[in-house]
Amino acid sequence: MASLTVRQLDDRLKKLLRMRAAKSGRSVEDEVRTILREAAEDTGRTVLDAFEPPTARSRARTSRTALPVETKRVLLIIGGGIAAYKSLDLIRRLKERGITVRCILTKAAEHFVTPLSAGAIVGEHVFTDLFDPAGEFDIGHIRLARETDLIVVAPATADLMAKMAGGHADDLATTVLLATTAKILLAPAMNPRMWANKATKRNLRQLAADGAAFVGPNEGEMAEADESGVGRMAEPLEIASAVQKILSAEGTQLLQGRRVLVTSGPTYEPIDPVRYIANRSSGKQGHAIAAAAAAAGADVTLVSGPVSVADPPGVKVMHVETARDMLKAVEQALPVDVAIFAAAVADWRVANAGEQKLKKQPGKSTAELSLIENPDILATIAKRKMQRPKLVIGFAAETENVVANAKLKLISKGCDWILANDVSPRSGVMGGDRNTITLVRSSGTEAWKPQSKDEVAATLIARVTETLNEEKG
Ligand code: CTP
Repeated sequence: MASLTVRQLDDRLKKLLRMRAAKSGRSVEDEVRTILREAAEDTGRTVLDAFEPPTARSRARTSRTALPVETKRVLLIIGGGIAAYKSLDLIRRLKERGITVRCILTKAAEHFVTPLSAGAIVGEHVFTDLFDPAGEFDIGHIRLARETDLIVVAPATADLMAKMAGGHADDLATTVLLATTAKILLAPAMNPRMWANKATKRNLRQLAADGAAFVGPNEGEMAEADESGVGRMAEPLEIASAVQKILSAEGTQLLQGRRVLVTSGPTYEPIDPVRYIANRSSGKQGHAIAAAAAAAGADVTLVSGPVSVADPPGVKVMHVETARDMLKAVEQALPVDVAIFAAAVADWRVANAGEQKLKKQPGKSTAELSLIENPDILATIAKRKMQRPKLVIGFAAETENVVANAKLKLISKGCDWILANDVSPRSGVMGGDRNTITLVRSSGTEAWKPQSKDEVAATLIARVTETLNEEKG
């Protein structure tokens, strides 16, 4: 079929196409091909199914599993460890990033997760057995090995790593690992003593020399009582970021050479040495933005209040507690090209914070706290004369009149964009995984569809990329 030249696209359509392409990390040309392919699949399939005999149709079912070349594909091998349950969340995280996932479970993994549960999340058959005629007919181990951009082994157990280092191929997972030419990312997980064992260290060196990449293991509590140390599998978000980094390193790094600053999480304002004022911010949105910017190749500094989400890999993280410390850290991180203020900064701190623990007063059933306003970090940076970032972006956390209040904040704080969101308890945004954003700029507003916080991050970074590149001309 002839290749196509598309003419007479209006400017808005061109802009939307560029944004879509930036978001999915493709060239505009590849994005157009993907759109055409999806449209042809949707309408063409109905016509095809009506005309084809059943045998041809079953062949077509198999070939439909062959994916568009531009779609990033990950083959996830789940090994047999207690951390296997986290790999189900990893599948979700990868899919949220637009990555297509196929999954192999080792025999040992089936003791921890079932093919049914993994298959329900992947959305297709999960592969378990080298000698399963249905699996071999459907895809086959060689196609599993070839039709992927990256193989992720999570959890990578000591046994699986040993087999890989020795070049064994005695089941589906190890055969695919031996047959692939794709990059391999391992997320090791095992008991700290097994991790420290000389044999494991030897295998690790061998695998690294063979070109494997690693994420984790982390330090922390083990599943076994009273066991802790290095050996916990990296968190799904960390693994997903490492995957994105490897995949986008092969593609375009649209924010390469740009410096991005992100604030995230709540601040804690002390009342006395043991009590503090805080809020329900989890840091998920700010951390996802930092991770998305790093995946796009930016040099990212994340200034984070106290949160339980893991530091995104490849990002410089400055941990702070109070609003005043957050402002200091932000100022230290300047100059940057883009500053994104996602932190839920406490508006007030306690003026009379006690040096010692406040004690109850006999006969007094009330206590007074006097509050004093904290510095507005976003406004301070947006109104700087020197070293003002090219793009200053804030959030507006509102519980009513969301867009109207956000417009007022855009003006009063002097920033360039505001991402307005409804944080009332019914929205589930605070602490939750999803967000509904309206982008407010002086030129107008734009409602984004409800999406995961990772998707919001990817959309925002695509927007930022486009704006910076437009400026460059
Ligand atoms: N912000 C900040 N420093 C503060 C307060 C807020 O940097 N002391 C930033 C937030 O990170 C966010 C934006 O300002 O990007 C708006 O925060 P929000 O909590 O929605 O608004 P407030 O300024 O606190 O105003 P109000 O509480 O009256 O809605």
